[in-house]
Amino acid sequence: MDSRQERWLGALVTLFGRNWITLSGAALAAASGLFIVGFLIMALFQLTESPYLGIMALLILPAVFVFGLLLIPVGAYWDHCCRRRRREAGEEPSGGPFPTINLNNARTRRVAVIVVVLTGVNLLIISTATYDGVVFMDSPTFCGKVCHTVMEPEFTSYTNSPHARVKCVECHIGPGAPWFVKSKLSGVGQVLAVTFNTYEHPIPTPVENLRPSQDTCEHCHWPEKFTGDRIKLITKFQEDETNTPSKTVLLMHIGGGASERHGIHSWHIDPSIKTTYIPADEKRQDIAWVRVEKQDGTVQEFKKPDVETPAGEVRVMDCIDCHNRPTHIFQMPDEAVDDALAKGRIDTGIPYIKKVATEALKSATGETGDLDKIEKHIRDYYAQQQPPFTDKAKIDSAVNEAVLIYKRNVFPPMNVTWGTYPNNIGHVQSPGCSRCHNDTLKNAAGESIGEDCSICHTVLAWDEAEPEILNQLQIK
Ligand code: HEC
Ligand code: HEC
Ligand code: HEC
Ligand code: HEC
Ligand code: HEC
Repeated sequence: MDSRQERWLGALVTLFGRNWITLSGAALAAASGLFIVGFLIMALFQLTESPYLGIMALLILPAVFVFGLLLIPVGAYWDHCCRRRRREAGEEPSGGPFPTINLNNARTRRVAVIVVVLTGVNLLIISTATYDGVVFMDSPTFCGKVCHTVMEPEFTSYTNSPHARVKCVECHIGPGAPWFVKSKLSGVGQVLAVTFNTYEHPIPTPVENLRPSQDTCEHCHWPEKFTGDRIKLITKFQEDETNTPSKTVLLMHIGGGASERHGIHSWHIDPSIKTTYIPADEKRQDIAWVRVEKQDGTVQEFKKPDVETPAGEVRVMDCIDCHNRPTHIFQMPDEAVDDALAKGRIDTGIPYIKKVATEALKSATGETGDLDKIEKHIRDYYAQQQPPFTDKAKIDSAVNEAVLIYKRNVFPPMNVTWGTYPNNIGHVQSPGCSRCHNDTLKNAAGESIGEDCSICHTVLAWDEAEPEILNQLQIK
């Protein structure tokens, strides 16, 4: 080592080496700083997506790093106090109350250069780590995988949904500082709940203080955009030997935006109409009172005849009162089997498979041994059938698909089973629209909210084998 290097080393020793607090602070900061840089480089080349590495690299290490940095001045202050005491006791030559910084002294100059350079490097590390930490905490990996068991139902359904590429935070938090802070504060509560296992199983729905949808959904789906009607084709299969398909064709009057007073959106998301309601149950599945307020001041109230205006939180209706499952979509057994048959994931050539697979799934409601139960039900049926159906490959793939359906919809550790999370779009699998569009809720004149089938859709075909309309429209 030449004398030049020795001089810089001497300056470093002056800076850090005088007391053990400063020295260990510097060592902590240096070590964690190096790890952070290492992780950032790994992240840059996308070598890791593990949520636990992420927590380590972007949340815990930066905390250690900052703690180390803080120890450096703490140690220096402690050192300063010790020296003053020694000076007062006459053990060292006396000086003023503050250290003398003389930049004409070459060693002091070197110390100053080191301080400036290291501070720059530290600021760079802290700001990069803070930025990456925030980005990381907003990622679906963090929200969905860190508390793996807790979020498994929501993460799994999300991954299979039309919104699989939309970040959790875009619907659950949205932009702006106040909601950011609010979410981080409630995040602390959630971390504690997971640590002490005090969270609810299943996670309750609806989400009590979800952000109003004009700040989230409407960033991507602006209300003016919705126009016109859309064809909806629903294929179902009967529980007979040949799994006979039947088709329902609906012309959904979605409407909205430019279309004049026609359709679902045009009425429900018209900014000049404010709909509020009071649910009679926690899941908002039973609605006791509805109020419609128009810009011209007219007000209508619909309620159940036997009850007075019920107590409870008055909720302003928005997108989420209908679209409560835009991404966490769970199916019922028969729906899921229809879907698998329609998409060819289960072979329609297996006799009675609609019936058998649906029964197998319905019997598996979240106990241990469910997977064996599903497999046994299907295999036993075909082993005992007369004449036996022997195409093993087809049965194997049906069993596989049934197991996959189960895994997408039933989550025993979270007590999530068939129907735990009802979907409010429609009125067949769960009450949905008919929570309000029914003949129990009445206004003062005794009228109810429209129930006429054609206000929401035109039923072009209903459970038909070969609907003529599909030929006309050339839809396969
Ligand atoms: C497209 C928007 C959207 C995205 C993206 C999204 N969610 Fe949701 N989430 C919702 C809506 C809407 C609800 C239901 C709110 C209600 O009914 O009050 C919900 C409900 C939940 C619930 C409560 C339980 C339930 O199923 O009702 C949890 C937990 C949840 N989401 C977690 C997540 C996680 C984790 C992610 C990312 C992996 C995510 N969400 C992504 C819109 C979204
Ligand atoms: C970051 C943008 C973004 C946000 C935020 C968002 N969506 Fe979407 N949404 C999309 C995209 C993109 C599609 C189209 C996906 C496709 O075509 O498969 C979509 C599709 C949909 C669909 C049609 C689904 C289907 O089966 O075709 C509905 C309904 C919907 N979104 C409702 C919502 C609701 C309700 C919210 C708020 C809770 C929301 N979206 C928030 C981007 C977004
Ligand atoms: C009164 C209930 C209701 C409300 C409120 C509502 N929607 Fe819809 N929306 C529907 C129905 C019903 C459909 C048709 C669904 C289908 O056919 O599967 C639909 C369709 C959609 C689609 C798909 C459109 C397409 O062309 O495929 C999107 C996106 C959407 N809604 C977003 C929103 C957003 C964003 C809001 C809030 C501003 C909203 N909706 C409010 C009931 C509603
Ligand atoms: C919280 C109660 C509530 C829910 C839930 C609800 N609606 Fe409505 N809806 C109303 C009220 C109130 C009216 C206005 C009725 C009136 O003025 O006579 C209305 C009106 C409508 C209209 C316009 C009717 C017309 O005469 O033009 C359509 C279309 C509609 N709703 C579709 C839907 C669909 C589709 C769903 C389910 C996805 C749904 N609504 C769910 C309360 C609700
Ligand atoms: C308030 C709006 C509204 C009214 C009124 C209404 N429907 Fe619907 N209906 C819907 C919506 C929304 C769906 C769901 C479409 C989807 O699956 O996305 C639906 C779905 C359906 C389906 C297909 C469901 C399935 O899974 O097989 C049929 C059949 C149907 N409606 C028939 C009717 C009939 C018959 C009437 C009149 C007695 C009626 N609807 C009244 C909104 C309505």
